[in-house]
Amino acid sequence: MRRGAFATRIGAIATAVGSAVGLGNIWRFPYEAGTNGGGAFLMIYLFFIAIVGIPLLCAEFAMGRDSRANAVKTFASLTGRKSMGAVGVMGIVASVLILSFYSVVAGWTIEYTIISFSRGFKSTDVETLHSLFNSSIASPAKSLFFTWLFLLINYFALARGVRKGIESLSNLLMPVLFLILIVFCVNSLMLPDAGRGLRFLFAVDFSQVSVTTVLSAMGQAFFSLSIGLGCMLTYGSYFKDSTIIPRTAVSIASLDTLVAILSGIIIFPAVFSFGMSPTAGPTLVFETLPAIFGAMAGGRILAPLFFILLFIASLTSTISMSEISISFCTEQFGWSRKKASAAVIGLSMALGGLCALSFGPLANFKICSLTVFNLFDFASSNVLLPLGGVCASLIAGWAYPRSRLAAQLSLTGNKLFSVIRFLLRYIIPLCILLIFINSL
Ligand code: TRP
Repeated sequence: MRRGAFATRIGAIATAVGSAVGLGNIWRFPYEAGTNGGGAFLMIYLFFIAIVGIPLLCAEFAMGRDSRANAVKTFASLTGRKSMGAVGVMGIVASVLILSFYSVVAGWTIEYTIISFSRGFKSTDVETLHSLFNSSIASPAKSLFFTWLFLLINYFALARGVRKGIESLSNLLMPVLFLILIVFCVNSLMLPDAGRGLRFLFAVDFSQVSVTTVLSAMGQAFFSLSIGLGCMLTYGSYFKDSTIIPRTAVSIASLDTLVAILSGIIIFPAVFSFGMSPTAGPTLVFETLPAIFGAMAGGRILAPLFFILLFIASLTSTISMSEISISFCTEQFGWSRKKASAAVIGLSMALGGLCALSFGPLANFKICSLTVFNLFDFASSNVLLPLGGVCASLIAGWAYPRSRLAAQLSLTGNKLFSVIRFLLRYIIPLCILLIFINSL
């Protein structure tokens, strides 16, 4: 079967960046850093990006481009065992769980785009913002509506083949998002309590670190880089042979991390200056940003622009998540793209509905003391993605022939290759398993 290939190196990088940069950086990173003690979390997160994230990103790209197939088929063919396709299936399950809760938050960005266009954000008062959030997000009808709206937009992008259009639009607009983030950073740095916010984000206090902190930082690294479920593997299968994988992986990881840190620099000074709490959890960014926009000169214009861009960044991330299931269904079952998209999005609408309601009517419905939303978030990011990472690194390190991996990475005969392979064979699996065992 002929498969599409990305036209240029920039195209390949930009699309993978489109997958990596999304709500994970701007919404999830600040809330995870906030609940896990700030600076120490950031340090551990950076450690995981460098030691686990970049090598795994390289491995996923390499295996995908080598096999030019979906994740299930790739794992089965590289190991010579059909049963190893289960690793890919686990990735598909994880991607549907992520798509479900991610769409709820993406729905919030649609709703906040509308609010910022219509009445705008005027107040910086914590109580007012809290009730704004509650009246929009916690309202079951609105929350369901916007979650489903977001998923339907995905369906049209995926099934109608306008995906490429959205991705090029995103390539065009992401530099704009980046510029806006810089403007917001400068604005936040001038807030009265900016110093406290920065200290929270950058001052490392290891006495605050628990196993949960380490587990969460690892989960965030996987989530933010889109690794562990075969998503980047699928994108790797569309890479051109001339794309230099390690360089691409480092560029993606650097850009992705930069956006997360910028987001932290925007949020935490505001959290302290407006008297909020950094430990608010998933709602943190959506209560902090309106306060920032309310107090900022030009906020009335920048707020809608920001939310539109965040929405587009979310869309390119969810497109990448859906792609793994869709490429599986079309290649394995011979389904049409339309049918595969309908199946994936339909399932996500059902599960996403439960996630949407877990801020309202289902707030007290808990499994293992977590709401459906938090359970999906935790189970996918902190369990399934790292577990997928263990399998992917073991397969890349042990089953995948050394020479083929080296050739894919353009590192034949290079010392750096031995380092990457050593990390994949021993350090990454051991590191992840140790953290798992400890957190049990
Ligand atoms: N990385 C994206 C973000 O930060 C989310 C994402 C897209 C993802 N594809 C993924 C997370 C695959 C895990 C696996 O918003």
